[in-house]
Amino acid sequence: MNTTNATHTLIGPFSQILPMTNLPEAGAIQDEQLQVVERAGVLVQDGKVLKTGSYDKLHREALDNKYKLELIEEPMVLLPGLIDAHTHICFAGSRANDYALRVAGKSYLEIARSGGGILDSVRKTREATLVELVDFMKKRCDRHLEEGITTCEVKSGYGLTVEEELKMLEVINLVNKHHTMELIPTCLAAHMLPPEHTDARLYLQEVLTELLPQVQEQGLANRVDIFVEETAFKEAEALEYLLAAKEMGFDVTVHADQFSTSGSKVAAEAGAISADHLEASGDQEIALLHEAGVVATVLPGASLGLGMHYAPARKMLDGGLCLAIATDWNPGSAPMGDLLLQASLLGAAEKLTTAETLAAITTRAARALNLTDRGELAKGKLADMIAFPTDNFKEILYFQGKLKPTKVWKGGKSVKTV
Ligand code: NIG
Ligand code: FE
Repeated sequence: MNTTNATHTLIGPFSQILPMTNLPEAGAIQDEQLQVVERAGVLVQDGKVLKTGSYDKLHREALDNKYKLELIEEPMVLLPGLIDAHTHICFAGSRANDYALRVAGKSYLEIARSGGGILDSVRKTREATLVELVDFMKKRCDRHLEEGITTCEVKSGYGLTVEEELKMLEVINLVNKHHTMELIPTCLAAHMLPPEHTDARLYLQEVLTELLPQVQEQGLANRVDIFVEETAFKEAEALEYLLAAKEMGFDVTVHADQFSTSGSKVAAEAGAISADHLEASGDQEIALLHEAGVVATVLPGASLGLGMHYAPARKMLDGGLCLAIATDWNPGSAPMGDLLLQASLLGAAEKLTTAETLAAITTRAARALNLTDRGELAKGKLADMIAFPTDNFKEILYFQGKLKPTKVWKGGKSVKTV
């Protein structure tokens, strides 16, 4: 006879649990505001967190109620699973040639103007079959999950025709169905003006009337993104597009202020959930985003890939913004895709507190995706969790990405144990 109460599991003891709860939604965070529960356990019920607290207390409760026990035998620190709120991991081919050109002195925009850049990935992604793309993506998802990412946003944007964008979104949804890491698809048909088009407004109109209704009917994505930049889409046409997409019921987000400002203004005026990149943002842009309550998602991987300065993350937090950090993993500007490493480096350069950096890849990254059911270990939230082999949470950022989680749970189920 099975005498355990199989719906509840107590996992622990952990040296420390950082539930990432009760933190301010936006603005600077002092490390003293970070709750650290020593010698702690987490009680999980039906894939969700029931509570965290003193292990010894929870252990007695578990014995009384015959809960299942999942014993942690080494010193470990438990955190919510990481959330990567901005990626382009559905693509074919490599852009190592672009990289070589860049380190030899050419700029990202020069390479884009001469037919390389995003359009090169568009050609290669269009040529790839659905099965090939699924396979490429699956490998990237495997690696991300290994590194503790339990939720990952993925954009289309290398198709740029109705048919090819649908193919990409179908691939993302297919992988999502079969992979443990949860994917949040975003339609980025407005990544660049496709080579077949010369009129941006006409192309965006086609996306609005022919692509987005199908995306909606087939439930392929509920988020729409646009790249606002001189080589992509301009302020006025982008705003018009986003307002129309919003009217249809999509959440909107913007690739903003990567090289020049104006994207953040579009994001603020469109009531975007997040504005992403922001390397070129200054005080004025920060104030606009703050006033409109737009999450700032910064992408240090793109700064590293392009050899550019980071977004002014410290200023953003001091200006009251909710700061998320994501990888931007893509074949052009950010091929590395290591979230923890990139967040650690940004934190060191920008003087972010440990609490601010960890919040930016957990609870605040959930906000960037408008997800309220994850990112912290509080009652009712998904039991997406990762554990690092250390007894001091400060070592996680200190080792700058070299200390990897050795245990990962998705919805309370252990999916990685080293
Ligand atoms: O976020 N900036 C625009 N889009 C991507 C780059 C995509 C690419 O270069 O393939 C980005 O950096
Ligand atoms: Fe991007």
